Amino acid sequence: MTCEDSPIQNPDDLLLDQLCHNLAEQGWGVLFDFFSPVLIEDLRNEVINHAGSTGLTEAGIGRGHDFMVDPSVRSDQTRWLSGETAAQSLYLKQMEHLRQGINRRLFLGLAVFEGHFALYEPGSFYAKHKDSFRGAANRVLSTVTYLNPDWNDKDGGQLILFDPESGAETARIKPEAGTLAVFLSEEIAHEVLISHAQRFSIAGWFRVGNKLSV
Ligand code: OGA
Ligand code: MN
Repeated sequence: MTCEDSPIQNPDDLLLDQLCHNLAEQGWGVLFDFFSPVLIEDLRNEVINHAGSTGLTEAGIGRGHDFMVDPSVRSDQTRWLSGETAAQSLYLKQMEHLRQGINRRLFLGLAVFEGHFALYEPGSFYAKHKDSFRGAANRVLSTVTYLNPDWNDKDGGQLILFDPESGAETARIKPEAGTLAVFLSEEIAHEVLISHAQRFSIAGWFRVGNKLSV
């Protein structure tokens, strides 16, 4: 057998196979080494810079006319990614690769990605919620990329995922740099526990339509 005959699997393909298997089986999955540590560090530095210069705004709930800021539900601050820096542009490119890889395996027809930086200052959290509701929605898959090096368990801020059938906690994800959580937006209720340290992330969504639903 020659080299050409042996099926050489790209390590990326194996990661995506595993992720898509988990999405199909349980509605969520986690990738640990999808982004380079340097990219994660550059993205973290961007949020840190924005935090020091009013580049972030209080996050709200709902869209358009329904938009409101409600600190009893969530208390993070956000900034949409635009691709305005090299790091954002590389991040968006990798999410595009992920979009295509997932579509090829699961036929979800994901059309676009949108995402924002999020900063949870100490004491911040996001109460249990879903990112999308059947009927109204075109958010299909939620993604969260964490940017925090050496996160300590005592800092809290874990992402809790709930089982859609039993309602029980099914996963507790530490917001450690490089971790990427992916879950079905309509199915998986989730919550961010109170963070006791500054917590940096990028929350994002793969949508089926090109238009925002207002
Ligand atoms: C969200 C969200 C989870 C996290 O922004 O909708 O649920 O772990 N984020 O930051
Ligand atoms: Mn959410």
